[in-house]
Amino acid sequence: MSKNVKTLNSHLKDISEITGYLSQRGWAEANAGNISFNITDLIRKKVVAKTAYVNKFKKQFTYLKNSYIWLTGAGVRMRDLAKDAENLSLIVNILDDGISYKIYKVSEFIKTKRPVKNDLYPEIKPTSELPTHLAIHNYLCEKKMTEKFILHTHPTELIALTQIKKLKSAEKINKILWGMHPETKIFLPEGIGFIPYTLPGTERIAELTIKAFENHRVILWEKHGCIAISENIIKAYDLIEIITKSAKIFFLCKSAKFRPEYLADYQIKELSDKYLHTIN
Ligand code: 13P
Ligand code: ZN
Repeated sequence: MSKNVKTLNSHLKDISEITGYLSQRGWAEANAGNISFNITDLIRKKVVAKTAYVNKFKKQFTYLKNSYIWLTGAGVRMRDLAKDAENLSLIVNILDDGISYKIYKVSEFIKTKRPVKNDLYPEIKPTSELPTHLAIHNYLCEKKMTEKFILHTHPTELIALTQIKKLKSAEKINKILWGMHPETKIFLPEGIGFIPYTLPGTERIAELTIKAFENHRVILWEKHGCIAISENIIKAYDLIEIITKSAKIFFLCKSAKFRPEYLADYQIKELSDKYLHTIN
């Protein structure tokens, strides 16, 4: 087994661990959430797949020519991915015109364990948020950014924040998140982006999301969930965990009928001065 294959395997182990947490935290009701990972750098051997067929996207992904993207399957539960990530996901290979693609089973690339017998998944197709995942990977490659992982999940307290009419802006939400806990400013000095409600799984949500990633690493989708980019799945999860904790503190104070005091502006500035650029 080559070094690269091991690397893909070890990433899949991390993904399994994280999908278990997503489920345990109640962020992954039914099939909520999806994950993708640009594995192009891990692929050395040319795969001649028995199962792959050529299809075409509606639009071209110029910067994904000859790329390989690992993705979770549509309708797959995170709690099931935790047990069997290899067989409940797939690999999309975008061909050299940037518009044609092939879909592979993960088992065409690495030796996978036997699938956990699961009648719920007779066929694995790419996540319904494929347009957004590919648009983001295309953007990340265009900008030569180091982030290769995308995590979309449904954290309850973050979604609740977007249900409050007077809070529906990045500015207001960031003020709350930074104000509740110092780690939020340390880990996310740029704050999070915010996208008004948009139909899931569409080209429109993909367009708005890549625009928001110009200045952010985590984007909140109104009344739906959030999406984060990072160098690995563990860091993507960390970012979401930190902001969700802040949102939870906010709601705990509110539900105990207290107005949270917030960190003062000078305290947030102190954090920026001391920690900016030390965490990546
Ligand atoms: P998929 O099961 O198609 O990935 O959809 C889950 C989801 O959260 C859509 O936004
Ligand atoms: Zn979703």
